[in-house]
Amino acid sequence: MIRIEGGRPLRGTVQAAGSKNAALPAVMASLLTVEPMVLQNVPRLLDVDAAVALAEALGKEVRWQDSTIVLNGGRELAPEAPAPLVQRMRASFLALGPILARRGEGRMPLPGGCSIGPRPVDLHLAGLRRLGASFDVRGGTVHASAPRLAGTTVYLDYPSVGATEQLLLAGALADGVTAIVNPAREPEVVDLGRLLTAMGAPVTWREDRVEIRGQSALNGTTHRVIPDRVEAGTYLLAGAITRGAVTVVGARHEHLDALLSKLVETGAEVRVNEDAVTVALGVRPQAVNIQTLPYPGFPTDLQPPMISFLSTASGRSTARETVFASRFNYVGALARMGAQVQVTADTVLTDGVETLHGAEVEATDIRAGAALVLAALAAAEATEIRGEMHLARGYAGLPEKLRSLGAEVCVTD
Ligand code: UD1
Repeated sequence: MIRIEGGRPLRGTVQAAGSKNAALPAVMASLLTVEPMVLQNVPRLLDVDAAVALAEALGKEVRWQDSTIVLNGGRELAPEAPAPLVQRMRASFLALGPILARRGEGRMPLPGGCSIGPRPVDLHLAGLRRLGASFDVRGGTVHASAPRLAGTTVYLDYPSVGATEQLLLAGALADGVTAIVNPAREPEVVDLGRLLTAMGAPVTWREDRVEIRGQSALNGTTHRVIPDRVEAGTYLLAGAITRGAVTVVGARHEHLDALLSKLVETGAEVRVNEDAVTVALGVRPQAVNIQTLPYPGFPTDLQPPMISFLSTASGRSTARETVFASRFNYVGALARMGAQVQVTADTVLTDGVETLHGAEVEATDIRAGAALVLAALAAAEATEIRGEMHLARGYAGLPEKLRSLGAEVCVTD
């Protein structure tokens, strides 16, 4: 359980961690090569541990050195991913492309992950089918085979992050060029493209598509994972909701444009430079409306923390969620803390209140947890948040970072 005594303005500087959502596909990319891979700036998180455990179960040897992981071996890749690992974390499903590309067959349990609505993998499978794979789903497991993967043009009905990454990973060892039309363009996908290019499979971004030129074998490389824009955004919002001023060093402001422009609209002061972003807010923010969209739109992962922040604004804010169904499971807990929130279909309406108050609440996924932490930081009394393991999935060293900004946080069993 995390206990937070709220009501203290957060002030100071924190260092951005490496991006979880860029580190996970990077670990999966290591499955494509038998040469050593060095991934730097990797955050120590439960989800990264799960990805590492999966890579090990499939035949890699992995060593941690501070925030660097070194991945070796994997000459014989196992054909089957262990169900508990894939069910623990949805991104594990990305191992399917590499397993298929390396072995010509593989078995992958259907994934789990955050409880934020139905999250199918139909786009992953349809895309891999276009490259020549065939599937049979039996007993909750995808049995896949592809004696040969051949590059072709794949049109994505939706710019899915996972499906784009899956196809880039498979395309890296396919014959010829794989073109993904309507791809996801999230910075984490671009980072994977940079990594695959360094491994010898050039990735080219064009107006309507991304292309990868497949190779018969890939080399190892050293890759520095980009900073985590969602973590950075969460700390910036923590400063704003407590009417303080937080600087995140190492954050890339160009990855945070959608959030920062909304924060300016609320009245916050935003300062950016090459290597840091600062958000300061001394007064009550103005209500704003947001709509989540694929990048460069407002990120769905910042929707819950943003709503916490807006629940203390002056006026009515609306947030429309277009990326995931049912991503409002934290709203009931926020209401118990005094927020005036109503959910109608895909939209949350928030009539801002002057102050939130403490309560006993439970985090149900990573970003719901972040929303509750923010509300707790601003609340007049103490808040106890259960389900803190969700926070450990996505926020490295959260209690320490918050304390360094002046928050009163303790973690108990
Ligand atoms: C990734 C991120 C997650 C982020 C999301 C959107 C990782 C590990 N996770 O998740 O934090 O919130 O991008 O930015 O990087 N969909 C389908 N069929 C598919 C695949 C997706 O219908 O085959 C739907 C999903 O149900 C969802 C939407 O597409 O409604 C977006 O999903 P997607 O972009 O694939 O997100 P993830 O890769 O799961």
